[in-house]
Amino acid sequence: MKTIVVANQKGGSGKSTITVHLAAAAEHAGHGPIILSDTDPQGTSGDWFNQRKKSGFDTPLYASLVLSELRRKIQALHEAGAAYLFIDTAPSIGAVNADLFAVADLILIPLNPTPADLRALVKGLPLVRQSGRPFSFVLARVRPKLKNNEGAAMALEALGLVLPTRMHERVIYAETFAHGKTALEIEPNGVAALEIAALWQAVKERLEENENS
Ligand SMILES: Nc1ncnc2c1ncn2[C@@H]1O[C@H](COP(=O)(O)OP(=O)(O)O)[C@@H](O)[C@H]1O
Ligand SMILES: [Mg+2]
Repeated sequence: MKTIVVANQKGGSGKSTITVHLAAAAEHAGHGPIILSDTDPQGTSGDWFNQRKKSGFDTPLYASLVLSELRRKIQALHEAGAAYLFIDTAPSIGAVNADLFAVADLILIPLNPTPADLRALVKGLPLVRQSGRPFSFVLARVRPKLKNNEGAAMALEALGLVLPTRMHERVIYAETFAHGKTALEIEPNGVAALEIAALWQAVKERLEENENS
């Protein structure tokens, strides 16, 4: 089982939206069983999962994680046959996230390509680096043709690997938490569904690169 920790100290960067979409995309691609876990006390992804169950979906599965038993729980999920575990996190740079980073096969950092988000990132990045675990940036909530986009992408390249697929700002993503569905079920052939499927592929390839290096 591979563990993907989605983190950024900045609230609203799209962590929860990306986490639930990637979990659903991995399941859609036939790469399950997929487990979702929410360590943010705000519980956005956990609430999404409950809504999703009410909407009649039985995947992905959900596991609650207790920090004191993190490694034991992850081992148990692995032994139970889970393929990927996606962990949504709270917008903080504290010790909680350090514990989560330590068990990550990949730390995925969604980032809006704005100067404010880049500055915030610079503060959070040392903790990510200290973990020694692989990390990747993903440009999220990207608005097309914004002057900042390419500059932010270049600045990020200097700090670490940026995934080739971007997640754009789209109304369909903002609907996610109303009903526990993702763009993949709302509009299976829509541009957002394709984008998310491509993003999952990029994440999966990054995990495989790490394995082989
Ligand atoms: N790509 C996107 N397009 C449109 N709205 C988005 C997108 N990503 C996130 N949002 C919306 O922005 C808000 C914050 O996103 P969320 O995923 O909860 O961020 P975080 O978990 O980092 O705080 C939510 O209302 C969400 O619906
Ligand atoms: Mg969140």
